[in-house]
Amino acid sequence: MRNTREILTSSEEETIQLGRSIGRILKPGDSILLVGELGSGKTRLAKGIVSAATGVSPDEVVSPTFTLINRFENGFPVHHADLYRVEGVEIYELGLADALEEGGAVVVEWAEKIPEPEEDALKVFMYDVDLTDLRRIVLDWLQGGSWDPRICTVLEEWRREKAWL
Ligand SMILES: Nc1ncnc2c1ncn2[C@@H]1O[C@H](COP(=O)(O)OP(=O)(O)OP(=O)(O)O)[C@@H](O)[C@H]1O
Ligand SMILES: [Mg+2]
Repeated sequence: MRNTREILTSSEEETIQLGRSIGRILKPGDSILLVGELGSGKTRLAKGIVSAATGVSPDEVVSPTFTLINRFENGFPVHHADLYRVEGVEIYELGLADALEEGGAVVVEWAEKIPEPEEDALKVFMYDVDLTDLRRIVLDWLQGGSWDPRICTVLEEWRREKAWL
């Protein structure tokens, strides 16, 4: 069974902030799969995740649309991939499976293109709401999986920060 929680963000800064809460609990071997239309905020969320996990500036975490995969490191490697332009077997050639086996974590945009996604991944579905700055963000994880005990930290932090925003 999978669990889901819905979060609304009302600016790109809020989405980056949510990403930072996720990035702070990132561990080697984690997969985060981002799914959402163009401009739904996947790269903004990834900015928060990768910068909090590795200590790089959010400005350094830019869309890997052309490089396809960017690697950051601080203790363990964190790979930020974008599958928008990738088709078929090219997905395997990106080396995401190797990255996970080597103890890295992966954050993937357009993750619906992965043929057999890892069950224990944190899936994040992002939706535009009515051409406004509002985004509906659904976190989806395996009950009893590795994210299960950690997600409450993210949600608690989110509630605390939201009270200040
Ligand atoms: N609440 C919000 N969260 C995230 N981005 C927002 C929000 N409100 C407005 N935006 C704007 O939406 C855009 C999101 O762009 P971003 O590159 O993160 O999307 P994406 O899903 O990665 O798109 P792509 O599929 O092209 O990679 C930015 O221009 C950002 O300023
Ligand atoms: Mg993007």
